[in-house]
Amino acid sequence: MMMGSMSSAETSAGMKKTAFGNMPDGQAIDLYTLTNRHGMQAAITNYGGTVVRLITPDRNGHMDDVVLGFENLAGYLQTEPYLGALIGRYGNRVGHAQFKLDGVTYHLAKNDGDNTLHGGLKGFDKRVWTARDVSSKGAPALELKYLSKDGEESFPGNLSVTVVYTLTDDNELKIDYSATTDKDTVLNLTNHSYFNLAGQGNGDILKDQIMINADRFTPVDAGLIPTGELKSVAGTPFDFRKSGVIGAHINDADEQLKLGKGYDHNFVINRNGPGLVLAARVTEPTSGRVMEVSTTQPGVQFYTGNFLDGTLHGKGGKVYKQSYALCLETQHFPDSPNKPSFPTTELKPGETYKETTVYRFMH
Ligand code: BGC
Repeated sequence: MMMGSMSSAETSAGMKKTAFGNMPDGQAIDLYTLTNRHGMQAAITNYGGTVVRLITPDRNGHMDDVVLGFENLAGYLQTEPYLGALIGRYGNRVGHAQFKLDGVTYHLAKNDGDNTLHGGLKGFDKRVWTARDVSSKGAPALELKYLSKDGEESFPGNLSVTVVYTLTDDNELKIDYSATTDKDTVLNLTNHSYFNLAGQGNGDILKDQIMINADRFTPVDAGLIPTGELKSVAGTPFDFRKSGVIGAHINDADEQLKLGKGYDHNFVINRNGPGLVLAARVTEPTSGRVMEVSTTQPGVQFYTGNFLDGTLHGKGGKVYKQSYALCLETQHFPDSPNKPSFPTTELKPGETYKETTVYRFMH
């Protein structure tokens, strides 16, 4: 008997709040499950603003969870590689864990060799955010707020951050970021979801096709800090301007791939001006799922889960091995505070930081 496709079934849209666990000090943490008219779901916790589940249809209407994660808060409280989390204040790396702003040198925590990764020892991924339902008709939306105090992780300024996750009826998870400061500072916010369009834990992503709308990328040194060059992708394994298989060249004898242990590089998104542009499209052959990533940001980090090593056991007891997921972290370029030629990541009092990224799911 033919089952009706889930994508055409009408489901009641909305948001549901459930308990997700307790912080070591007892604070209760919640999980907010957003559902759209087509039954697509995004479950987000106010711990780290983390996307815990993202349930989307495949070409047969079968629903699967396409992001890596854990069943409950306890999973996220163990050391883990930022699965699904909001990242700040500075997503990606700051070289030598320091930067200079207005003549002052700020020294950050070295949590990645000699460098700072994803905001330091206790970044936004490990903070409890204040949640509010800001849904409008037909579009469940969750607002998360966090005040990062002056000096937190050694960054200057009281930084007030708002992130709104909206699940649209076009099967999009839209993320709107905004922030203000009371002192000159730097910031680079992103979301660190690990996607596997075949369903989380269901094998590697090496057979997926990817298109990245970038003529150039930022090559890195041994610490994965950009050299400052914007290098043409032409004639390199980084040329995904036409859709290509992710695994086709991942083991090539290419210096950049060796340094990243695969793809772990920032691409310079082609754009003619400000606004949302398509950054990347991923197609998973067996399920037929397609994900498009659009953003207002200048860059996107394409990471092929190189450091996943099978030690993490995620939802449903699935084991997360190398290349079992990919990340497309929309962002400003890594180490921008130390690279005056890169688009600036400075924010001043009176200004409002605003960025938007949309992950759209099709089949
Ligand atoms: C970085 C990787 C890192 C991963 C998890 C990515 O954004 O580029 O090098 O291993 O995050 O921390």
